[in-house]
Amino acid sequence: LNEESLYRPDFHFTPKANWMNDPNGLFYYRGIYHMYFQYYPEGNVWGPMHWGHAISKDLVNWEEKEIALYPDSLGYIFSGSAVVDIHNTSGFGTLENPPIVAMYTYHDMPAEKAGKVDYQTQAIAYSLDDGYTWTKYEGNPVIKNPGINNFRDPKVSWDSINNSWLMTLATTDENFIYRSDDLINWTLLQKFGEGLGAKGVWECPDFFPMKVEGTDETKWVLLQNLNPGGLNGGSGIQYFIGDFDGTTFTLDPSFEKDLELQKAIWLDYGRDNYAGVTWSNIPDSDGRKLFIGWMSNWDYAQVVPTKKWRSAMTLARELKLVKNNNQYRVYSNPVKELDDNISKTINQKPVKTSDEVLIGEGQDIDFNRVKIEFRIPNINQAKYVFTLFNSVNEKVIFGYDNVKKEFFSDRSKAGDLSFSDKFGATQTIVPIYDDVYNELKVELVLDKTSFEVFYNDGKSSMTEIFFLSEPLTGVSVHANGNEFELSDIKISQLKFD
Ligand code: FRU
Repeated sequence: LNEESLYRPDFHFTPKANWMNDPNGLFYYRGIYHMYFQYYPEGNVWGPMHWGHAISKDLVNWEEKEIALYPDSLGYIFSGSAVVDIHNTSGFGTLENPPIVAMYTYHDMPAEKAGKVDYQTQAIAYSLDDGYTWTKYEGNPVIKNPGINNFRDPKVSWDSINNSWLMTLATTDENFIYRSDDLINWTLLQKFGEGLGAKGVWECPDFFPMKVEGTDETKWVLLQNLNPGGLNGGSGIQYFIGDFDGTTFTLDPSFEKDLELQKAIWLDYGRDNYAGVTWSNIPDSDGRKLFIGWMSNWDYAQVVPTKKWRSAMTLARELKLVKNNNQYRVYSNPVKELDDNISKTINQKPVKTSDEVLIGEGQDIDFNRVKIEFRIPNINQAKYVFTLFNSVNEKVIFGYDNVKKEFFSDRSKAGDLSFSDKFGATQTIVPIYDDVYNELKVELVLDKTSFEVFYNDGKSSMTEIFFLSEPLTGVSVHANGNEFELSDIKISQLKFD
């Protein structure tokens, strides 16, 4: 076994070589999903940032392309976004061949080293060949720094309600919302976030309207990544839900109440989903909110035990806004295209027991996806425990604890922990402000170095990575000695190129 065979994910995007962090510039156009990413092509740790590029027809199989943006005299190319300027509002293209416009942050390293605070500015570039090659706008930067050290990660979207462009970017603990008619001239509308949510350094925001599932109601969602300050230290994704009148975003009163009770609401309870944002230009006929995150954590990303490349993206996911008992929550699930990549599914017989159950016992199948309905009659005792294991007794353990009302994950026996004190040894419990479940619907997606678990139709999710010294060989479940029932067990193997 070498690094490639043991650790290179089968169906999560990784760069062929060297360092990657945030997904950037996500847009869809003419049948192709584009994904750029923070990339340092000359080393396996963070360095002078470029935008790498990958494309996909189905959000599952990715193909790496040429580097899209290189650093220049204005700075490194930090995170940002891209839109298809269909009406050619920027004038960079034509109506027949609309420009793709990317907006990103320049990080001026010498200025930072010289002790200045205004080293981050916002800039644009455009592509006239569907995102493969780019020209930087000669009038950059388009937004100068107002004297704030953290001032970055512009996320642009078309505001179809007000017929203009909206952009949001992050400062240390606030979010700045801007508007523009041409993607070049920007007016600040609002600073949002004072005193709200989890603090740390806010980065990579995303701001968009969503229809509440099954209704005609629209609410606005603000995803706000932050690092440090995540749920278990390091990086994490929180979000806010409210209304936007074209100028001002205000929290929904119910969400304000939620925040009084629980400080922050998280999109993912695991430690390895960060800098996640959504695709632009998804056709109305599709209508999905499609999301992808960086599957790592700044606490240890630069020292994980892969040398040739570092880090992967999460699965692409569909976000939904759900209202339940007067609470708004963003649900996430793997994109439905994952189903088109399944080569084999077996159904396991339902079981009722208090012993540990091996999933797929005796079946010749690779465990890429497991769906289970899990019921525990004696709910007050119950802990739902999943164990991923290999032949040398290394384990990744996770589940839900009805007594503590917490989702948990435990990597303390998960193979190689030597590279960082924070990886296996930090607290493994994540508080969730949820219910007691006597039934848990679980979708688990496994790759060589990650698990992504989606509970109860995506109401809660957890994404974590691990580095075992031998491949995974199985999955088992138990309920801490209590009787439980498993039904509707479906185990699938994926096919990938
Ligand atoms: C988030 C982040 C962004 C920044 C980029 C630099 O992971 O710190 O705020 O633009 O990474 O690579």
